[in-house]
Amino acid sequence: MKLASGYRAFWEAAHKNYPDQTKPGGNLDWIIAISSIVNGECSDRFAKPSERGWASYFHAKLFPNRSTKVGALAQTYKGLLNIKTPFDLHLYTRLIWELQPQTILELGSLQGGSGLWFADQMSVLCDNKGGVHSFDINTECIHEDAIHPMLKFHQVDLSDVSNFDQDLLVNLPHPWIVVDDANIEIFPVFSYLSQFLLSGDYYVIEDATMRADKEIIDGLELVEQSRFLVDTYYTDAFGTNLTCAPNAWLRKS
Ligand SMILES: C[S@@+](CC[C@H](N)C(=O)[O-])C[C@H]1O[C@@H](n2cnc3c(N)ncnc32)[C@H](O)[C@@H]1O
Repeated sequence: MKLASGYRAFWEAAHKNYPDQTKPGGNLDWIIAISSIVNGECSDRFAKPSERGWASYFHAKLFPNRSTKVGALAQTYKGLLNIKTPFDLHLYTRLIWELQPQTILELGSLQGGSGLWFADQMSVLCDNKGGVHSFDINTECIHEDAIHPMLKFHQVDLSDVSNFDQDLLVNLPHPWIVVDDANIEIFPVFSYLSQFLLSGDYYVIEDATMRADKEIIDGLELVEQSRFLVDTYYTDAFGTNLTCAPNAWLRKS
């Protein structure tokens, strides 16, 4: 299992070389205990959205308080805006490592900082270098420093799915991660893009699902009918739904 392979290696090395310290009360017993939790191969990892409820351990966007200097943690990357919580940055790193995506589609480029971050992450974590395609209507705001050989910006008005370039989508290699951080026509866009996704691909809906209102609950019913399951390994890694995408780290079955 890719996410926990380091733990397994540590467990073997510790047992072989320091058997006394791996026993209960030993210096290393705690890390041995964690290894079984970190292993993502648990049978209850994937859940139907309708079975999840909306409990949230903590509201990710309220932590830390944006009005304080440390609060927003600056939310920049290489000087450019990258509006993601520390939790979600960490979750994406793990997902990119685990899935080894060939394509990341980002809806909502803003200044290009998040696309740049995704491209850098892919370049260090993925064996086969793919690409990031970032879509926004306001592409004039993209900074000239958001340049990366694996990153391409597209000017698209997401309020109409016919604006997507279908030829581009059918030719992008899989696995995919789609990140909806624009929240424009969330479920029409999901319905359109999900037809291009293959089994094992991911679709993350940031921010909007924190509302958990009728639009979201009805929309996630559609998501479920489209054979997507919530990957609780990501939604609940730091506590139930402690992410800006509650119930919305979705994997196509
Ligand atoms: C929350 S920001 C994206 C944040 C960015 N991904 C990040 O993590 O830093 C949302 C973006 O959606 C874009 N947007 C708003 N309406 C849009 C539309 N109709 N089509 C495409 N993009 C749109 C805005 O221009 C804005 O850049």
